[in-house]
Amino acid sequence: MQAAVYSEYGTADVVRIEDRARPVPGPGEILVKVAHGSVTTADWRLRAAAFPGVLAIPGRLMFGLRRPRREVLGSEFAGEVAALGPGVTGFAPGQPVFGFVMQGAHAEYLVVRAEGAVLAVPEALALADAAALPFGGLSALVFLRDFAQVQPGQRVLVIGASGGVGVYAVQIARALGAEVTGMASGGNEALVRGLGASGFIDYRTTKLRDLEGRFDAVIDTVGAARFKDVRHLLGKTGVFVPLNFGLREIGQALWTRALGGPRVRIGVSGDTRADLAVLADWVTQGRLRPVVDRRFAFRAIRAAYAHVEGRHRRGSVLLDIGSAALVQPLRAVLA
Ligand SMILES: NC(=O)c1ccc[n+]([C@@H]2O[C@H](COP(=O)([O-])OP(=O)(O)OC[C@H]3O[C@@H](n4cnc5c(N)ncnc54)[C@H](OP(=O)(O)O)[C@@H]3O)[C@@H](O)[C@H]2O)c1
Repeated sequence: MQAAVYSEYGTADVVRIEDRARPVPGPGEILVKVAHGSVTTADWRLRAAAFPGVLAIPGRLMFGLRRPRREVLGSEFAGEVAALGPGVTGFAPGQPVFGFVMQGAHAEYLVVRAEGAVLAVPEALALADAAALPFGGLSALVFLRDFAQVQPGQRVLVIGASGGVGVYAVQIARALGAEVTGMASGGNEALVRGLGASGFIDYRTTKLRDLEGRFDAVIDTVGAARFKDVRHLLGKTGVFVPLNFGLREIGQALWTRALGGPRVRIGVSGDTRADLAVLADWVTQGRLRPVVDRRFAFRAIRAAYAHVEGRHRRGSVLLDIGSAALVQPLRAVLA
């Protein structure tokens, strides 16, 4: 099979497409023939060892000190079940599935745990679009529902509202019943409002410190805000949730918890099948939709990386990986 591999940390040029042995599913595992994947911020951070802030050392310890431990990146995938490992029930060969893994999805075949974040593709979702949802959707869900604990009727500010996590954060905050204000550059206002934001702030003309108003939660998907920039926007029970954090935010999370008043909450995103099912249900109910910025051919993966690293994408950046990328639409036409 073809896989996009890297054996040293660096720019997009370290990624090359090579032949690799097709993996074999073990007990409790599924072999997926990948049709579509994506390039996410997590992928380029792992590729470049650009772990934010305090994660620099733990990141390398986890993913490889001098060089990457695993050669294939890629977390979101959509494709079809190619084979089942011993003991797997609930899936069938040929079934369209989508999901999320830590690494390994930039390849024509991928082995995933059947109990992991993998599900049948909802009927409302085209196969390619299914690959757009898991990374941003799961991140936004966990940070808004679990860390910010957003409740119906609350006001939420999403910084980076047109990005890979932001486009889902706007929709998910709405699905949780909140009133949403999105922050991005002016050209993205129509997109962000179209996702359900009732307010919009152009970060190029309005600085957070000059902003007025009151929010129950501020979620920063970009790393553009510090607690001191947004504290005046938060009520006594307000929460600031920075997705990128360093020692400063860890300290702030501890002392704001101890002292009371507006809090800083940090954490890592989730990858459970139950949460993927929440996203799939919202898609079926028409409350959540994938936002696809661009699609790249697998061979153009370096260009996809460069685009995502520019930090101005509008939603997800997809890769057409396997031949199923062609077969599935054909099946839909013939059905
Ligand atoms: N802690 C965790 O477990 C976890 C999980 C997932 C993600 N993350 C982190 O969260 C971040 C989210 O990544 P992403 O993929 O969503 O990022 P992204 O797609 O690169 O974000 C781009 C967005 O940021 C906006 N933006 C750029 N500069 C800005 C500024 N100064 N002020 C406000 N908005 C600005 C862009 O708007 P315009 O294009 O309009 O300029 C665009 O909306 C990543 O750094 C990732 O590492 C952490």
